[in-house]
Amino acid sequence: MKKAYAVTLCNGEGYLPGVEALGSSLASSGTTEPKVLMVTPEVRMVTRDRLAAQGWIIREIAPIPNPNPATQRMLPRFSAAYTKLRAWQLTDFDKVVLLDADTLVMKNVDDLFDRPELAAAPDFFLPDRFNSGVMVIEPSESIFDRMIHALGHEQSYDGGDQGFLNLFFAGWYASSIEHRLPTGYNIAHFIYQFMHSHASAWKTLQHEIKIVHYLVQKPWKSHPTLTGASDIWWSAYFKVHPEKAESLKHRLHEAEDWSFDALTHLFVG
Ligand code: GLC
Ligand code: MN
Repeated sequence: MKKAYAVTLCNGEGYLPGVEALGSSLASSGTTEPKVLMVTPEVRMVTRDRLAAQGWIIREIAPIPNPNPATQRMLPRFSAAYTKLRAWQLTDFDKVVLLDADTLVMKNVDDLFDRPELAAAPDFFLPDRFNSGVMVIEPSESIFDRMIHALGHEQSYDGGDQGFLNLFFAGWYASSIEHRLPTGYNIAHFIYQFMHSHASAWKTLQHEIKIVHYLVQKPWKSHPTLTGASDIWWSAYFKVHPEKAESLKHRLHEAEDWSFDALTHLFVG
C-alpha cells in the first residue's frame, strides 16, 4: 500500500510557517512515510525549493474556489479551503492522511494509515460532525469528480470544506468505530492548554494527544497568542529555523501559555 501525509499551501504563502512547523513535527514523530505538499501556482519557486529541502514532495495543483461567494466575503480565510479536496486526486497513493497546515503532530500517527476512508475526529464546535483538519482518505478520481459535481448543489453549514464534506460523507457520527478517530488525533489548541492547566487531566490524558489543531489563533500570526499551546508550536518551528530562536522568545511563549493557565485557574477555580 502506498501511503503519504498531505498538506495544502494555497491562497498565498500565509500558512508557510504552519507547513514548516508541521513538517518539523512529522520528522520528530519518526515517520518515514512521504510528505506531499500541494501548492497553488502563486507559491514562489524559492518557497517551493525551501520546502523541498525540508523533505516535502511538491505537487502543483489548481485552486478550487469557494462555491459560496457570500462566505468568501465573510470569512476570507475560507476562500480557498475547498482546494484541499484535490487530495482525492493524489491517486498514486492508496491512502493519504490529509492534515491542515495549522496542525502539529505530537506523536507518531502512522497507525492512521490502517483506517478506512473517511476517518476523522469530532469537531470541537459540533461534535456530531467531523473536523476536516485531519482526515484519512483514499484518493480516487471518481470520488473527486462526484465532489466537484456536488459542490454546486450541496450547502455547507460553515461555508467551508468541512460543512460540505460532512454532507458528502453524511452519517459519519453513526458510522462504525474505525471511521471515528479519538479526539486526541485532532484536539483544539485551547483544549490542549485547558487540559494542561488541570494537573489531573494532564496526568491521565496527556498520552492521548497526538495532533494539536490551531483552530482560532495561528501562533505565527498573532502576537501574543493567548489561546494556548504556543510554546510547543514555536519549539517545532525553531527546529527548522534555529536562526530565529532566542531564549527570550522561548520564555515569551512559555509566558503566553502560562497566562492561559493562570486565567483558567482564575475563572474555573
Ligand atoms: C474548520 C476546519 C478546517 C476547514 C474550515 C473550513 O476551520 O478546521 O479544516 O478548512 O473549517 O470548513
Ligand atoms: Mn485548520
